[in-house]
Amino acid sequence: MDNFKKDFPILENRNISYLDSGATTQKPIQVIEAIKNYYERYNANPHRGAYSLSIEATEEYENTRTKIAKFINAKNREEIIFSKNATESLNLLAYSYGMENLKKDDEIVISIMEHHSNLVPWQKVAKTTGSKLNYMYINEEFELSDEEIETKITDKTKIVGITHVSNVLGTINNVKKIIDYAHKKGAIVIIDASQSIPHMKIDVQELNTDFLVFSGHKMLAPLGIGVLYGKRELLNKMNPFIMGGDMIEYVYEQDTTFAPLPNKFEAGTQNVEGVIGLGAAIDYIENIGYDKIHEIEKEVVDYAREELSKLDFLTLYMTPNKNNHSSVISFNINGVHPHDVASILDSEGVCVRSGNHCAQPLMRFLGIDSTCRASFYFYNTKEDVDNLVKGLNKSYNMFKKYITKEK
Ligand code: ALA
Repeated sequence: MDNFKKDFPILENRNISYLDSGATTQKPIQVIEAIKNYYERYNANPHRGAYSLSIEATEEYENTRTKIAKFINAKNREEIIFSKNATESLNLLAYSYGMENLKKDDEIVISIMEHHSNLVPWQKVAKTTGSKLNYMYINEEFELSDEEIETKITDKTKIVGITHVSNVLGTINNVKKIIDYAHKKGAIVIIDASQSIPHMKIDVQELNTDFLVFSGHKMLAPLGIGVLYGKRELLNKMNPFIMGGDMIEYVYEQDTTFAPLPNKFEAGTQNVEGVIGLGAAIDYIENIGYDKIHEIEKEVVDYAREELSKLDFLTLYMTPNKNNHSSVISFNINGVHPHDVASILDSEGVCVRSGNHCAQPLMRFLGIDSTCRASFYFYNTKEDVDNLVKGLNKSYNMFKKYITKEK
């Protein structure tokens, strides 16, 4: 089995099993070098200088936009808007689309497994516009049934926001079905691809999604760079979300005309190092190929599913359908707080996230406060899974005398 750890300096420098790629991935040397090269050779403010250094920075910045458009198969490069992260992209949509297009009694539909970033902004839109926020709930297999989709999306629905992969459950949602159904009902669809694009090929034209958002840092790129994809005709009709330099055409004392896409949505000096890093991350992913990434992750995640299922002191929150499950596994040691478990795992060099994972409504729906979460990427190995299992056995043995039976 290939081992990509050697490309990741931190995984060479620290003796850890890093199982928190759902929060942020580690960065390969190729990305780190690309950023260093940018600062050493062509750092300048893009779009703002007539000198060659600034022109070079502009070219790299804009070439990366084209690269991302190809990467997700967008029809036009100006359909790619750079943001800070998926959260900012979703806020842009809530303010520039939601607030301006929804009216009283319209409906917004999201799922109960949304991250707060695809939930709190829609609460604000609903409260401000008088529209309703409705939820699609999961079944006992931690999945959205077709029936649930078809019941909740109605003729009143104007916006459907759905995560492609749940950051807590790892469930892969049937977004194609949701998009097609929502379009039949006249709604637009926003896909949160933050947890899917690191692991699987996204083709926005094939999906026919109206909008799609993701963060760079969950797919090998630096923190602080995100993407909003939107169909050109929709983006063209929307007003800017953030105002300032570079998003304008003419500014008068009392009025302003806005720049065309994509600049209209990119006010202020942009995160050029983030964009360059994202470009290098895409090159790296394409060089390995999604088929290979899938092959490695499938082997490691299937092994983790099997090994964790053998631990009878564990509750697992994952679908039994392997094909609908990506690289995230949430679990609890019955009767032990997930933060305590995560601390014991840390003492064994195993990094997992514990808490509510920015998904409190999902936690409440599941009747729990929090979970531990192991999230995998192609640089993980079966040995990382063995370390996790070893750490969990250690945690259980430390806490079992305190675990009360009646639960
Ligand atoms: N959204 C990130 C996660 O799920 C931070 O961990």
